Amino acid sequence: MGFFKQIIRDLPLHHGKHYRVLVRVDYNVPLKDGKVGDDLRIRAGLPTLQYLLEQGCSLVLMSHLGRPEGRDLSCSLEPAADRLSELLGKKVIFVDDTIGDAAFQAVKKAPEGSVVMLQNLRFDPREEENDMEYAKAIARVAQADFFVQDGFGVVHRAHASTEAITHFLPSVSGLLLEKEYVTISQAMENPAHPFVAVLGGAKVSDKIKVVERFVKLADTVLVGGAMANTFLAYKGHAVGKSKAETDQKETLDSIYAAAHKKAGDDVDTFVVLPTDVAVGHELSDSEKRVNKTVDQIADDEMALDIGDKSIENYTAIIEKAKTVIWNGPLGMSEYDNFAHGSARVALSLATHPEITSIVGGGDTADFVLKWDANNGGSFTHVSTGGGAGLDLMAGNKLPGVESLLDAR
Ligand code: 3PG
Repeated sequence: MGFFKQIIRDLPLHHGKHYRVLVRVDYNVPLKDGKVGDDLRIRAGLPTLQYLLEQGCSLVLMSHLGRPEGRDLSCSLEPAADRLSELLGKKVIFVDDTIGDAAFQAVKKAPEGSVVMLQNLRFDPREEENDMEYAKAIARVAQADFFVQDGFGVVHRAHASTEAITHFLPSVSGLLLEKEYVTISQAMENPAHPFVAVLGGAKVSDKIKVVERFVKLADTVLVGGAMANTFLAYKGHAVGKSKAETDQKETLDSIYAAAHKKAGDDVDTFVVLPTDVAVGHELSDSEKRVNKTVDQIADDEMALDIGDKSIENYTAIIEKAKTVIWNGPLGMSEYDNFAHGSARVALSLATHPEITSIVGGGDTADFVLKWDANNGGSFTHVSTGGGAGLDLMAGNKLPGVESLLDAR
């Protein structure tokens, strides 16, 4: 399946001529002690930058980081620029602004083949307002021939750097955006069967459309994490002090109506819930893992992971699959005793390379990257998208993709 938008390989880059390219990346990365804590998003975007540099282009990069209110230097992109310098093996010129004359001059003076990184776009409120004047001012600073969108994680937002900017420059997709979009949509729309969805994380309310779409498209939906508590409570199980959303009855009514329509009496082997859970009384590293069936959760206990029997059941289903999409940890995976479910799913996927495995959502990606000695290479695809991935899986249109030039 090809991509429906033009990509950087379609750019008319004529040999011997110098081009400047403005690239939107998503370097919204966690910072720790003034340094980048997790560089997945920066590494994943390297092929696009390397391709353009190999063609002799100069680059101007722009991104947001966090959700700052105005200019808040704890959200500066300088640490991301430093990490990129290390990864590229090339100095990245950091400019502490996105518009204005100083930024214009810095870009103008940058030598051919250089990489300039602008400051956090969200220091200016007009970024999130999708403001045309702001986008125009960025385009002026960038002095670019083309705009490349490669920030997959942010294309579900219609912001100045994802939508408005495309009105000022010929705009195409980078290689990361293309790969994410094609891999995820191909797995959703044209999967090899059996197609299994593994859904976890905290909230069903955030993922309603995604759950509904998986009910429509997948052969089995495995539910874990706090989301499973919401399902169990809906089914009448007492979940003690577990994290659960009790106001989602209508949502679950409609999910189960769709599931019944598809699977009839087999609904519980189609939308699979844990039959046992690992409980604890508090969240701490020393808290013991105690297995209980879902009917035995005491009032003062919390379900913090799927239980051992459920792990066996889930992994057996996963190992028979041909396509698996996994979004959301199956337990409180930041605590080793409650990471068993997520770790065993990761192991099943990593030891069955014949399964097309797509792992997404910030927390799930973090978990598998910490778990995997192979830096994510044990899976077919570790997605850099959180909300953008969910929107794509839900079948929503993504403004930052729609606004790019159509494939010819
Ligand atoms: C993300 O981390 O999901 C993206 O960078 C988008 O960030 P946002 O949710 O703050 O818009």
